[in-house]
Amino acid sequence: MQIQPVRGMNDVLPGEIVAWQHLERVARSLFESYGYEELRVPVLEHTELFKRSIGEFTDIVEKEMYTFQDLGGESLTLRPEATAGVVRAAISNGMLRGQRHKLWCAGPMFRHERPQKGRYRQFYQLDVEALGFAGPDVDAELIALSARLWRELKLRGVRLMVNSLGTAAERARYRERLVAYLMRHQDALDEDSRRRLDGNPLRILDSKNPQLRELIAAAPLLAEDLGAESQAHFDALRAALDAIGVGYEVNPRLVRGLDYYSRTVFEWVTDALGAQDAVCSGGRYDGLIAQLGGESTPAVGFALGMERVVALMLQAGEVPAAPAPAIYIVASGEPAERAAFALAERLRDALPGRGVWLNLGGGNFKAQFRRADRSGATVALVLGEQELERGVVAVKPLRSEAGQSECPLAQLPAVIATLL
Ligand code: HAM
Repeated sequence: MQIQPVRGMNDVLPGEIVAWQHLERVARSLFESYGYEELRVPVLEHTELFKRSIGEFTDIVEKEMYTFQDLGGESLTLRPEATAGVVRAAISNGMLRGQRHKLWCAGPMFRHERPQKGRYRQFYQLDVEALGFAGPDVDAELIALSARLWRELKLRGVRLMVNSLGTAAERARYRERLVAYLMRHQDALDEDSRRRLDGNPLRILDSKNPQLRELIAAAPLLAEDLGAESQAHFDALRAALDAIGVGYEVNPRLVRGLDYYSRTVFEWVTDALGAQDAVCSGGRYDGLIAQLGGESTPAVGFALGMERVVALMLQAGEVPAAPAPAIYIVASGEPAERAAFALAERLRDALPGRGVWLNLGGGNFKAQFRRADRSGATVALVLGEQELERGVVAVKPLRSEAGQSECPLAQLPAVIATLL
């Protein structure tokens, strides 16, 4: 019986990989230009790490984690996101102690969600984190960086939403007011919301149930509980975005699905992908590092969902063509094939970085030329018995009207270089 792929986990095939590589290239170069350094952290962490960072009462921890006992009896979890691991790495490696770090990483994340378009159980994130920066300037710079990424990828129609979640104390005050309000309307709540009332009432604001829309619209807002410092932080962020012309909408009900956030939160959303509309999200998490046992350090970051960004790139048709080889070598007859093999290696020495493809697996000239043409090569080199006897190859430009010519084998690399 044929083995099936795991539900919600995708193969990225060569036809799509060009878009992925383009995204990775553009992102890497942008991250570096803003001073971010790459780090790589494990895919597996102790389950406890995610419980203590993302929060016990979040959907992710309650029902979406791939958790198992390894052979040593430890409870491990496939990372559902990258921030917790990056923070753990900074603590484990003594990288804090008053230092600052601008870091990024990439890789697969795992959440046992109900798969649908744009929502998978294994998905890739590009994750950016700034550790040790307290001011709103770094929040704004991270948003500017993501805005620039959309511009460089030529993506239109991604909209920015921002909000402030205040400090833990401000949120606790708000939570009381919110719970009091929701208790007064308990009868109107659905089962999911009633369950959240105890553990995570703020998430009720994020409910997609249309029957709760009016109730949520009339709920008290966190904005009214923000203290002066949080308000100033939010105002400065907005002023910085205004100054560089990045448009945004203040969404007072943007709460995010992870518990570690404080003050700034943001999300880039699109109407082009159906229900899964967030392509990039993040925010500040000033309390998380201390909460995980590191010394108290402010931090902020974001992650983008690569599948969703690639889907937007493909929709917009903004993906460069796959790189084509410079040369495709066609050969017929065993001695010519052997000579062609050696010739290919010589050309690879002489033209480093240029694609030199050798026809493998034989075939008549017609079939070989069809492959040469499909490869997109600029030039085909033809080596048959006759050419071999006379020490020449036929040179056939495939992308111009110029006719076929002959070239002595010894002069080949130099002649080819002029054709490319
Ligand atoms: P998140 O909102 O859970 O935040 O995920 C970030 C992004 O990953 C989302 O905006 C979305 O594009 C993508 N994503 C999430 N779940 C899925 C899924 N099941 N399938 C496909 N794409 C998905 C975080 O993960 C935080 N760690 C972000 C952050 C970094 N905050 C501070 N630093």
